[in-house]
Amino acid sequence: MSFDLVIKGGTVATASDVFKADVGIKDGIITALGLGLTGAETIDATGKYVLPGGIDSHVHIAQPSGEGIVMADDFESGTLSGLFGGNTTLLPFCIQEKGKSLREALTAYHAKADGNCYTDVSFHLVISDPSESVLGQELPAAVADGYTSFKVFMTYQDLRLNDAEILQVMDTARRTGALAMVHCENEDAIRFLIDKHVAEGKLGPPSHASTRPLAVEREATHRAISLAEVVDVPVVIVHVSNGAAMEEIERARARGLNVTGETCPQYIRLTEQDLEGMNWEGAKQVCSPPPRTRAEWDNIWRGIQNGVFDVFSSDHCPFRYDDERGKLNPKGRTDFRHIPNGIPGVETRMPILFSEGVNQGRIDITRFVALTATNHAKTYGLYPNKGTIAVGSDADITLWDPEAETVIRHADLHDGSDYSPYEGLAVKGLPMTVILRGKVMIRDRELVGAKGDGGYLPRGLSMKVRPAA
Ligand code: URP
Ligand code: ZN
Ligand code: ZN
Repeated sequence: MSFDLVIKGGTVATASDVFKADVGIKDGIITALGLGLTGAETIDATGKYVLPGGIDSHVHIAQPSGEGIVMADDFESGTLSGLFGGNTTLLPFCIQEKGKSLREALTAYHAKADGNCYTDVSFHLVISDPSESVLGQELPAAVADGYTSFKVFMTYQDLRLNDAEILQVMDTARRTGALAMVHCENEDAIRFLIDKHVAEGKLGPPSHASTRPLAVEREATHRAISLAEVVDVPVVIVHVSNGAAMEEIERARARGLNVTGETCPQYIRLTEQDLEGMNWEGAKQVCSPPPRTRAEWDNIWRGIQNGVFDVFSSDHCPFRYDDERGKLNPKGRTDFRHIPNGIPGVETRMPILFSEGVNQGRIDITRFVALTATNHAKTYGLYPNKGTIAVGSDADITLWDPEAETVIRHADLHDGSDYSPYEGLAVKGLPMTVILRGKVMIRDRELVGAKGDGGYLPRGLSMKVRPAA
């Protein structure tokens, strides 16, 4: 058998197995796993892990973000940053603006993405206006076209849906086989607390966290799961920040419900104290749900270890800090209500989990692969083309050096923001070489691929909805 590329002498890890093998690649596909393979080109992977390319199923890129506010990443910088973080596929959100159609949103978003990506991408939809035509025609048509997952929000005044609307959207998910994702925070409770904070003149960034306490997320998580139970549909609870919300997922699963849990690096590395700081520095870490206490880090680790969390995503949602169109916009620099929500992290997600998880002995390499690639592919209709190292799968491969060390500095990252929430954090274990569908994109941490090498992926149905035969 002839190969275009052979990755030789490495340790292959999948979500279930770890073994020594060469990987033979032909026409962008893995065509053999074996020993003694030879090909037109060879990459020596001695001492490296050979892992499926990372899939980050929760990122925000070039999203409309309110008047005067601009997201820090377009598809070029966002996917480049993702690539340097060891990812080969990103799943950003395409937001339906109120009063507009899904088609309009998709057309606009494709215009931004197509031809501009360094990784493969595929879009989730965000449903903000579940009109009769959206539920009856547009959404089913979008699902048939491969947009097989969508998110609904229980918070943010311009995006939130009420329970009746969420039930309708979930029912459409049930009819079409799509997968519903829910942002769980109780908007009315948040508004109540915001009014109190404002009346007391508490306008600094820490008020972002204290107006979104844990109970606000726990209640909404319970309600979202209950609504999904009423409709009898699987549901993904995204960006879970604390043990109490996580326990809602555990309890639901114990009752036999089909609930997928997602958590993110900010909930094992940041705390609400990070929203304090001189010169409005805390604005850098404003995201929703907010970071919690250190004690919650342990709870989240328990869920990462025991499987409550199926996916570990970045929720990369980058705004520049020192920028009129970012965190320090004219209103945002005096009032937490106007600080755009979200933090960058697509490039640091996997190094942080590898370092704190694998290298510090909290999880093994197979769990790392499951949490960063395989489970994303299974959950969002990309498996087995993506998310694993197997004959017939796309040759999306990252070579990891488990011993390589660095200190996270924004100056070394590739996103369009001007800071990293993890500045100064030492990490051990880095992606060295990244291969996308058989094409070497990064070689020994140097970019060799080009903008446009990443493509758009229509997706099948989630294995959570339709288990593999
Ligand atoms: O603060 C965050 N997480 N912003 C991104 C939007 C979202 O809710 O995922
Ligand atoms: Zn969200
Ligand atoms: Zn998000």
